[in-house]
Amino acid sequence: MAQLWGGRFTKETDELVDRFNASITFDKRLYKEDINGSIAHVKMLGKQGILTTEETEDMIAALEAILNEIEEGQLVITEDFEDIHSFVEAKLIERLGDTGKKLHTGRSRNDQVALDMRLYTRDHIIRTDSLLKELLETILGIMEAHTETIMPGFTHLQKAQPITLAHHMGAYFEMFKRDRFRLSDLLRRMNYCPLGSGALAGTTYPLDRDYTAELLGFYGPTLNSMDGVSDRDYLIEYLSACATIMMHLSRFSEEIIIWNSNEYQFVEIDDAYSTGSSIMPQKKNPDIAELVRGKTGRVYGALLSLLTTMKGIPLAYNKDMQEDKELSFDAMDTAQGCVKLFCGMLSTMKFRTERMRRSASRGFTNATDAADYLVNHGVPFRDAHGIIGRLVLYCVEKGIAIDEVDMEQLKTFSSAFEEDFYHAISMETCVGKRLTKGAPGREAMEAVMLVYRNYLDEKGDIL
Ligand code: ARG
Repeated sequence: MAQLWGGRFTKETDELVDRFNASITFDKRLYKEDINGSIAHVKMLGKQGILTTEETEDMIAALEAILNEIEEGQLVITEDFEDIHSFVEAKLIERLGDTGKKLHTGRSRNDQVALDMRLYTRDHIIRTDSLLKELLETILGIMEAHTETIMPGFTHLQKAQPITLAHHMGAYFEMFKRDRFRLSDLLRRMNYCPLGSGALAGTTYPLDRDYTAELLGFYGPTLNSMDGVSDRDYLIEYLSACATIMMHLSRFSEEIIIWNSNEYQFVEIDDAYSTGSSIMPQKKNPDIAELVRGKTGRVYGALLSLLTTMKGIPLAYNKDMQEDKELSFDAMDTAQGCVKLFCGMLSTMKFRTERMRRSASRGFTNATDAADYLVNHGVPFRDAHGIIGRLVLYCVEKGIAIDEVDMEQLKTFSSAFEEDFYHAISMETCVGKRLTKGAPGREAMEAVMLVYRNYLDEKGDIL
C-alpha cells in the first residue's frame, strides 16, 4: 500500500495491518473537501511567500483538475492508498513532481482530516436543514387544508378530546421547527477552521490562519491547536440533532402505522409508499413508516458510538478518531433519506376525514365539554364530572353517543340540562371554542399558521 511515511521504517507493514489501518474505503467520500481544503492551504502559502507564485498557480490548477476528473469519473479513487489525503497528494506529485511535494508544508493530516470532516459535516447540516424545510412545507400544506377536519385527540392511546388534523400536524411542525433551530445553532458553534493547527502544536511557518478560514467560509480559525485537531463535538452535536430528528420521524411513523391499520383507517398510504406481502394477497403494508421507525436505532447507535470513542482519548489526535467516519456517514445518509421519504409519503397520503370525524364523535371525546356545560349551568365541576361519568356509563351500556340521549332521559341525570346542550357538545363546538393560543379552534389555529407561513417564507420571527 502506498504511504506517506515510509522513511522511519525498516520493513513493510503487514498486509492485514495495512487494511486495518487504512481509511480510504470510507474517507474517499471526503475528496471534495480534501481538495478544496488543499487549494485554500496552497493559496495561503502563496500569499505568505512560502510558495512562489508559479508553484501556487500550478498547484491550484492541478488540484482543480484532479477534482474535476474525479467528479467526471475520469480519475478513479483507488484503494491502494492509506487514505484520501495520501491519494490526492500522490496524484499531485505524479503531475507536478517536486512542486507537488510542497503541498503538505505547514500541515499535518491531523488538521487536514479535522478540516475535511468539519467541511463535510457543515455541508450536511445545511442539506439536512433544507430537507427539513421541505418537510415543514408539506406539513403546513396539510394543516392549511384541514383546519376543519375533526379527529379524536388521544392520551394513553385512548380517545380524549376532539381536535383537528391541522392541530395534530401542527405538533409535528413544532418538532421539526425545533430540529432546524438545533442545526442552525450548532452550525454557528462549529463554523471555525482547524486548518493550521498542524499535528497538534501549530507550525513554525508564518501561516495566515485567518485567511484560510475566510477562503473556506468559516467565521475564523479555531483558537487552540490541540483542540483544533481533536475536537469532534460538532459531529456529536450533529448526530444528536439527527437522532432527535429520527425520534420525531419515528413517533410520526408510529402514528401513521396506527392510522393506516385496518381498525383505524384514518389514512391511506399511497401505493407508491406501500408494499405487498409475498403470501397474503390482501396486504398493503406501511413498510416505509416501519423502516423509518426501525432505522432510528442505527442513528442513535452512531451517536453513542462516537460519544464512546471520544470519551477516553487523551489530547491531542489519536487514531481512534478515524472511527468518527463510517457510522457518522451512515447516520447522515439515513436521517436525510428518511426526511426525504417522509415528504413524499405525507404529500401523497390520503386522509379519510369522514372516518376521523366519526371516530371522534363515537368516543365520548365531548365528555369534558358536557361537564363544562353543567358547570356553566351552576353545577360544581366535581358534581358535573360525576353526572357525566354516570351518563357515559349509561351510553356505553346502550351503545349510543351522549348526543343521542333524549332530553327526558338527560333530565333524569340532572335538571340542569336544556335543549342548547346538544349544540354545546357538538364536535364543531368542542373544537371551535378551544381558542387559547396553541389550541385547535379555528381562529387560534389560523393565527399560528400565519406565523408558520411567515417563518417558512423567511418573513418573520417564529414564536
Ligand atoms: N485517516 C485518518 C483519520 O481519519 C487521518 C489522519 C491520520 N493522521 C495520523 N496521524 N495518522 O483520522
